[in-house]
Amino acid sequence: MKIASIVGARPQFVKLAPLAQAVEERNRARGSKKIEHVIIHTGQHYDYQMNKVFFDELGIPEPRYNLNVGSETHGRQTGEMMKQIESVLVQERPSWTFVYGDTNSTLAGAIAAAKLGRPLAHVEAGLRSYRRDMPEEINRVLTDHCADLLFCPTITAVRNLRKEGFANILNNGELISRSSLTRVVPSASFPVVVNVGDIMIDALRLTSATAEKNSRIMETMGLRPKSYFLATLHRAENTDQPETLKSLMTTFAEIHTAEKPLIFCLHPRTRKALKKNRLFTNVARSVILIDPPPSYFDILILEKYAAKILTDSGGIQKEAYFFNVPCITLRNETEWVETTKHGRNIIAGTNRERILKAVNEKPAGKAMSPELFYGRGIARTLILDVLSRFRPTPL
Ligand code: UD1
Repeated sequence: MKIASIVGARPQFVKLAPLAQAVEERNRARGSKKIEHVIIHTGQHYDYQMNKVFFDELGIPEPRYNLNVGSETHGRQTGEMMKQIESVLVQERPSWTFVYGDTNSTLAGAIAAAKLGRPLAHVEAGLRSYRRDMPEEINRVLTDHCADLLFCPTITAVRNLRKEGFANILNNGELISRSSLTRVVPSASFPVVVNVGDIMIDALRLTSATAEKNSRIMETMGLRPKSYFLATLHRAENTDQPETLKSLMTTFAEIHTAEKPLIFCLHPRTRKALKKNRLFTNVARSVILIDPPPSYFDILILEKYAAKILTDSGGIQKEAYFFNVPCITLRNETEWVETTKHGRNIIAGTNRERILKAVNEKPAGKAMSPELFYGRGIARTLILDVLSRFRPTPL
């Protein structure tokens, strides 16, 4: 069997890594059917710290194709990706095309495959913010409705899809297990929805010990555990509204003190927005910047030892939960609603008072085991098991 993975942006490399590893392990196992894995990189992220460092640290095989699309407006970027992905899929004819998450690379891959009538699998299906002004929400909804196999990370995601009319849901939306899979009827008609758990938990489990061994970020920056706040910010709704960005930067400066600094990992989008609004110099003086942003190993270690994390990223909310570090989400909603249980993730939005209150509050009780919501960190194995049960019939 041949599968193709389409990736392009930082969080997708993290989601691809465990699956690529599982494919390689299966190929090494005696007696198992070999899987050819073609990796297609759209080039949406191209800076070393946004791209190559993830392939190196996570041991992801070299992409067979790099489409070098780079940055553009949404329409141009997505269109250029679609055009090139179509040619690659026509040439490679994979049995399954995999797309991950909710970026423009995800949408381009989904539309290209669906229009060719090629079977499409979506990893991290069913997430919803119910905010149509988020580009990611458009990408997710459209991708899910093009997909044949929808791999959900949580039961919440399955329920979201059920509300949108998806009826063929394996195991009634409960986390699938290898034994329950044997009862699955392989002739079930597509689209099929299945809860395999969150592949980011696989990534964390596979990488956190290596990150701990390899990262020197704490020593380099002279940081002691639990003696700093960690912040990341890159959502368009936060970076592209000058007033919101300015207010967040003032709040960050208020949080930062000599005893407990605020370490701010700078995404290139945010850097550009700070420069455009003439805020950069001030921000660089009032908090500690990591620019360019840290590698995957370094961000994991910074997260693990932070006193609290302030973020608008989805992945980091879950990583904070995994490391049992209190999180403050700089958005008005989250797709990862499970993290908000037990007060471990406070949805503070961008309001100064709400953020400061959350920063100063004593953290709530210990986080529950991530396994309760996100599966056992074996999503990669379950995905390959599900694939082996279904035989797609391309148009
Ligand atoms: C994208 C995803 C977002 C994801 C994020 C993770 C979309 C719509 N958004 O947002 O869901 O959470 O990736 O990082 O797909 N840039 C560089 N170097 C790079 C990449 C980008 O300088 O390697 C700059 C460019 O100025 C570019 C801007 O960042 O215009 C935005 O990049 P883009 O890929 O459009 O979206 P992200 O904000 O990274």
